[in-house]
Amino acid sequence: MKHIITAAGLVVIVTVLVSAGLDAIGLMPIEASAQATPIDNLFSLEIKIISFLFALIVVFMAYSIVVFRRKPGDNTDAKHIEGNTTLEITWTIVPLAIVLYVSYLGAGALAETMRVDPQAMEVKVVASQWNWRFEYPGANVSSSTLYLPKDKQILLKLTSQDVIHSFWVPEFRVKQDALPGDALVKQLRITPTKIGEYKVRCAELCGTQHATMESPVVVMESKDFDAWLDKESKSIPTDPVERGKRWAQQFGCAACHSTDGKAGVGPSWKGIYGKQEDLADGTSATVNDAYIKESILTPGAKIVKGFSNAMPTLGMSDAQITDLIEYIKTLK
Ligand code: CUA
Repeated sequence: MKHIITAAGLVVIVTVLVSAGLDAIGLMPIEASAQATPIDNLFSLEIKIISFLFALIVVFMAYSIVVFRRKPGDNTDAKHIEGNTTLEITWTIVPLAIVLYVSYLGAGALAETMRVDPQAMEVKVVASQWNWRFEYPGANVSSSTLYLPKDKQILLKLTSQDVIHSFWVPEFRVKQDALPGDALVKQLRITPTKIGEYKVRCAELCGTQHATMESPVVVMESKDFDAWLDKESKSIPTDPVERGKRWAQQFGCAACHSTDGKAGVGPSWKGIYGKQEDLADGTSATVNDAYIKESILTPGAKIVKGFSNAMPTLGMSDAQITDLIEYIKTLK
């Protein structure tokens, strides 16, 4: 009995120390969304349970090794123990009850992270190898940085243009895969609670540049967000050619494609529309709408002779591609 009480006391002390130690390391980044709260509550409860189980095993093991070790000259057998039905039933029922209780809490936390606010603002998230694009349908705005207003639920509708990616902002805790295909649009709800700059990263191995598939996330005051969205929305030209020119700058096309005939990393756009291009595989193709669209969505499909397959997929929307084609047509 004396041993049990001593060991139990040690279990309590080790549990407190391990749990305090794990807390002090700061395992989690800051909590920046309403959905993070139930997850962190659950996580902190689990840390306590884990600390207790760790103490329970390690303390009894270490205590036995130290206190019940063989004394010099003692060659007798240990006491034979046949089993203890009460103990066995207890250590089956108690863990079962704990597991069931934690799964009940887990289901509750999951439901809380998925709670629907009918006033939620919709943002479309388009993933592609290897970048993110965010579209604000109400304002016809598209951005490579995810701007969000504080204290408003955001309904993200995620899709992919190629393989499976996964949207993950650690400070928001919740995570969701983005799947290719219009029938597989996935939803994720986030209510940002802290002004600040975060990063969305891809949490699904999606190719050679998976590790660098990151985009900035900026949470701002609601009025600053409205001002940003309004400014972006108004700055979009009404003329498709002007819009196309804007997308060419926004998506960085100009870095590789000149508009004055000079060769760059990729073919110059000057006079390219309607031209017959000789391709690396010996065939040729006419530069028309379908050719340009394919070259943007699947850059490796047709490589112009003398150039390498160097173009990234950009995640442009169909409407943006249409605008870009109108712009390229004017570059005679
Ligand atoms: Cu996209 Cu990993």
